[in-house]
Amino acid sequence: MHLRSTLLALAIASASALPAFAQDVVVKVDAGKPGPTIDRHIFGQFAEHLGHGIYEGIWVGKDSKIPNTRGVRNDVVAALRDLKVPNIRWPGGCFADEYHWRNGIGPKDQRRAMVNTNWGGVMEPNEFGTHEFFDFIEQVGADAYVSVNVGSGTVQEAADWLEYMTAVHPTALAKERIANGRKEAFQVPFVGLGNENWGCGGAMSGDYYVDLMKVFARYTRNYDPSQKMKQIAVGPDGAKTEYTEAVMKAWSERVWSWNLDGLSLHNYTINGWPPSIKATGFGEAEYAKFLHETLGMDQMIRTHAAIMDRYDPEKKVALVVDEWGSWLAPTEGSTPGFLVQQNSMRDAILAALNINIFARHAERVRMANIAQMVNVLQAMIFTDKEKMLLTPTYHVFHMYVPFQDATFVPVAFDKGSYKVGDIVLPRVDAIAARDAQGTLWIAVTNIDPTRPVEVALDVAGFDPASASGQLLTAPRMDSVNTFEAKRTVAPVPVKLDGGKLRLPPHSVAVVGLKAN
Ligand code: AHR
Repeated sequence: MHLRSTLLALAIASASALPAFAQDVVVKVDAGKPGPTIDRHIFGQFAEHLGHGIYEGIWVGKDSKIPNTRGVRNDVVAALRDLKVPNIRWPGGCFADEYHWRNGIGPKDQRRAMVNTNWGGVMEPNEFGTHEFFDFIEQVGADAYVSVNVGSGTVQEAADWLEYMTAVHPTALAKERIANGRKEAFQVPFVGLGNENWGCGGAMSGDYYVDLMKVFARYTRNYDPSQKMKQIAVGPDGAKTEYTEAVMKAWSERVWSWNLDGLSLHNYTINGWPPSIKATGFGEAEYAKFLHETLGMDQMIRTHAAIMDRYDPEKKVALVVDEWGSWLAPTEGSTPGFLVQQNSMRDAILAALNINIFARHAERVRMANIAQMVNVLQAMIFTDKEKMLLTPTYHVFHMYVPFQDATFVPVAFDKGSYKVGDIVLPRVDAIAARDAQGTLWIAVTNIDPTRPVEVALDVAGFDPASASGQLLTAPRMDSVNTFEAKRTVAPVPVKLDGGKLRLPPHSVAVVGLKAN
């Protein structure tokens, strides 16, 4: 038998050739109908000065015994490089609206320490500032997404920061940057105009924020003519539409002196305040309830996208979901305000479901940032002094790397149902995309924690030569990785069983079908 047909027989049985099996799901992939690009920036990360997100998680200082490059931990950088992190949002969060950039430049011993009032009331030494941030993201290979201080800062302060970072002419601020060790301008492709100014960033009404934001949009310039910078305004708090209406209306009536490229949406899966859903030791009812909430991201995006469509039918302004993820009850004994939580197989599924939603809204959702990257909330990485581990969510992000900048390909399948009490969830979820090399990538999630599912891929209009992929599952839906057992939840090569993709309960698979 020809190699190609052997592989096909093994990997991608055509739907009609499959033996009848009560639990089969046929995922029909219409490779002949490509859709929009799935922007790689939907896989963005978020690093706030919060708990051990920066200090210890990224920054250990040059004199640390932990292997580092100019103070930035090597193990974390290597793991993030593997993830092909497209952008990192910094310095917050709520912290951004109390951050004064001048405190974080110049000789370390002369930096002004402050109290981190938002997160635990601990000392913030400002050791990790502008130069350290850019050194870090350049080591990772990610773009900067810098949020300026709209809440407690001034327009002049923000404008000066942009000049300091990007000026190519010998201005006073450019000279100061050079004196601090950086000759070339820093690349600043994304700027956030405040953070949650409806809440921690000043509790402003939508109209008040809009008036202020327009001034910041005008004066926070990139001073390097070779750079293109996108400005992102604060947008909705979850389902609330006040900011969406106010910002988009103002944008549609804008004058020449300002513009916007993005509107931010913050939407955590949190089950009310204070966060009470357990990170581990939860039952099926809690599992189903939480994932049901996370699937609400789809309607949330539809609601805001419908308003945006009214003011911006050409979709020039992106919806930027720059804070999302699971927000759970904090780990017992952890420092209050440090937002420390374990990360389980359930959270990996939650991540896959949200990425799928973003991909389906690729035309409008062109950037997103999971909260947060290291040691905080739904993190990719945990550190404990010299130790580091990759969370289940990290593995999902890693498996989805091929979807970065790939072309969305429509899929059709019977989602089935998984019921717990009154809660009904789809049993499976799936997306597909084609990368620049022509490989067709298909991601399938088995949401059901009780039943395996066998998936047949029916790939019309595509003639693949080979198939391979990875499967992420775990003994239990609340299985986690620990420093003692780092690979309880870790991907394995995907198993092909009689020509079908067999997904165990609570699992995520990503397969690539290489073009001929
Ligand atoms: O990610 C933690 C916090 O959640 C951020 O600082 C804030 O923007 C949001 O409320």
